Amino acid sequence: MVDMSTSLSGTVLPNPIMTASGCAAAGRELGQFIEVAALGAVVTKSIMLAPRAGRATPRMAETPSGMLNSIGLQGPGIDAFLERDLRWLVEAGARAVVSIAGSSVAEYGALAERLPASAGVTAIEVNISCPNVESRGEVFACDPVAAGAVLAAVRSAADPAVPVFAKLSPDVTDLVSVAAACAEAGADGLTLINTLLGMAVDPVSMRPVLAGTTGGLSGPAIRPVAVRAIWQVHRALPAVPIMGVGGVRTGLDALELVLAGAAAVQVGTAIFGDPSAPVRVLGELEAALAERGFGKLTDAVGFAHRVTG
Ligand SMILES: Cc1cc2nc3c(=O)[nH]c(=O)nc-3n(C[C@H](O)[C@H](O)[C@H](O)COP(=O)(O)O)c2cc1C
Repeated sequence: MVDMSTSLSGTVLPNPIMTASGCAAAGRELGQFIEVAALGAVVTKSIMLAPRAGRATPRMAETPSGMLNSIGLQGPGIDAFLERDLRWLVEAGARAVVSIAGSSVAEYGALAERLPASAGVTAIEVNISCPNVESRGEVFACDPVAAGAVLAAVRSAADPAVPVFAKLSPDVTDLVSVAAACAEAGADGLTLINTLLGMAVDPVSMRPVLAGTTGGLSGPAIRPVAVRAIWQVHRALPAVPIMGVGGVRTGLDALELVLAGAAAVQVGTAIFGDPSAPVRVLGELEAALAERGFGKLTDAVGFAHRVTG
């Protein structure tokens, strides 16, 4: 038996495997296939202050070893989320990592204020891959100053007992500078990575496949980018806990992210083909760690850095 527990900035979870934001709604849909309480945590779809319809269809497209989506931040708004979704997760015994998204710094702060530990929030994940309406629509995650401003606002508005994680975009030249700005602004940890911006054109209609033109690329195709991002950030900021995400389908995929420096691993696109994937990945990861002689998951976190020097 391997001790699979992990610590995210002082919050101990029984195991490191989670759903990725946007790939299991608020967990309830998954509840018919798996016991959500068996996961380290359920990361909920990014929630905004007001209800939103999301983008026009079509908004999904298959790609080689992955998919493009332009769902947008479709959701019920924070009031309905707290009343219905968070309550369901808490009653199911799940640990809830609540993903928030905003279009201004103030909106992020207002959301964080509504998510105390007493409501059953295990951690807040701050999705900063959103356009900043106060800065000509520039994505917060692409600018260290804007990213830091969001994280400072969230950290000061959030319950001190709730760890705050910044979820970063790989679509930047210098990821470490964005990561460092978030950590300096008070982020307790980082989630790496959000989708990569992609696009597909239909050779028959000769038009963009997605109604939203561009979309986020996810799935196995992006796993090497996730591994690289985790590796670079863990090397530069070894004390900052990382939740790794990107293309994980198996326990060996999860192990790769852990060895690069992830203390937790989220499963996203794989859930669409196999809703029980997170539970399967957990079992496979435990077996893979045991086979390699690890008694504790935490001993494997960042192990690849130690062996390559
Ligand atoms: C359909 C879909 C919706 C997503 N929605 C969100 C979201 O609301 N917030 C967010 O931070 N990431 C969202 N993501 C990104 C995932 O959480 C994850 O970072 C990304 O898909 C890479 O992991 P994967 O390859 O395992 O899917 C979404 C991804 C997909 C495929």
